[in-house]
Amino acid sequence: MRMIDIITKKRDNKELTKEEIDYFVQGYTNGEVPDYQVSALLMSIFFNGMTKEEVSNLTMSMVNSGDQIDLSAIEGIKVDKHSTGGVGDTTTLVLAPLVAAVGVSVPKMSGRGLGHTGGTVDKLEAIEGFHVELDKEEFIELVNKDKLAVVGQSGNLTPADKLIYALRDVTATVDSIPLIASSIMSKKIAAGADAIVLDVKVGDGAFMKNEEDARELAETMVEIGNHVGRNTMAVISSMDEPLGLAIGNANEVIEAIETLKGKGPADLTELSLVLGAQMVVLAGKADSLEEARKMLEAVIEDGSALEKFKVFVKNQGGNPDITEDYSLLPQAEFKTEVKATERGFISKMDSENLGVAASIIGAGRQTKDDVLDLAVGIMLNKKVGDQVEAGDVLATIESNKQNVADTIERVRAAIHISDEKPDTKLIKAIITG
Ligand code: URA
Ligand code: CA
Repeated sequence: MRMIDIITKKRDNKELTKEEIDYFVQGYTNGEVPDYQVSALLMSIFFNGMTKEEVSNLTMSMVNSGDQIDLSAIEGIKVDKHSTGGVGDTTTLVLAPLVAAVGVSVPKMSGRGLGHTGGTVDKLEAIEGFHVELDKEEFIELVNKDKLAVVGQSGNLTPADKLIYALRDVTATVDSIPLIASSIMSKKIAAGADAIVLDVKVGDGAFMKNEEDARELAETMVEIGNHVGRNTMAVISSMDEPLGLAIGNANEVIEAIETLKGKGPADLTELSLVLGAQMVVLAGKADSLEEARKMLEAVIEDGSALEKFKVFVKNQGGNPDITEDYSLLPQAEFKTEVKATERGFISKMDSENLGVAASIIGAGRQTKDDVLDLAVGIMLNKKVGDQVEAGDVLATIESNKQNVADTIERVRAAIHISDEKPDTKLIKAIITG
């Protein structure tokens, strides 16, 4: 087989075979195929797209380029959840204990974040003593006993994706639906899930800026999952404003706890119930999404979802009393209010810029080696659609440095006020296989 023939075939919009896809993926991972040939092939894929068969083969070839996690020692159907990336997205912290409380096994592998705020692991580390360094036996034992554990990412998962992603980044080929879909799905499949729930974000603050592209990405990923034997569903949800009110780390832990108590922000609660219901159905614990949702509402109502969170925190070295005493979490020294300068309705909250604002005061990483300040962040006081008067507090910046003049301006500029009440819709579509 020759790489030039594979490139020519794709350039001419013909379908690549499984063997041809394996040849370039494994060859590139081994260092036998050079960057310039893979670049040319990626650009051909960017322009000509891929068939369902090709995109599934590409996904599995990337899965096979490295290790796969074996979760077979964990009882039941293992369901994983993936978000394509939102600002202030605390759903994992809510969902994991929520679905575990109805008997779904949640063996969660999570990473640190690079971006606006920390990842799930960073947020959990705001809880003193909490650790994710579990060996395989401990991890499996905790999930079998209490249905829930979070372990830090380890092992050599999907090295082909790491290499191809880095090349896409510098060859203007990130924005390709088959390449994004196979990249995300390869990582989820290698991590060992039997079933996968996807939260595809759409809006200014998301990868997919419009609903049509978001739908195509969601459908492609659902097809890949189902094609390779992993039951997959997707939700398309809005990123026209950050999720919930908190953007940060410790403050997002509090927001998740409030949601488990039934007192969380409406949008975070709704998204958690919608995604959670899908997880419960895929795990075979309910026959319909309606039934699953009722089960989840019941465990919030009777306190068992919160109880599950406490057991989880205790199992991994943290103090479960944080759920009743938030002063046990890291506190920011300064609180600075950002006020409205005019009256009207909040028409839009630029998630991206609010995320950047939180990141600049220390809630997120600019580079891999940055150390986060888990205490700091932004608390929104309003949501899109709310009416405001001049002088009303729009948001509070919680920081450990006193002068946050730049951040005030950035936050104010991100919150748009207009005369008309806008339409808002959190859940845009649900895609089932
Ligand atoms: N996230 C991924 O993991 N891969 C992509 O290609 C895009 C977003
Ligand atoms: Ca949030």
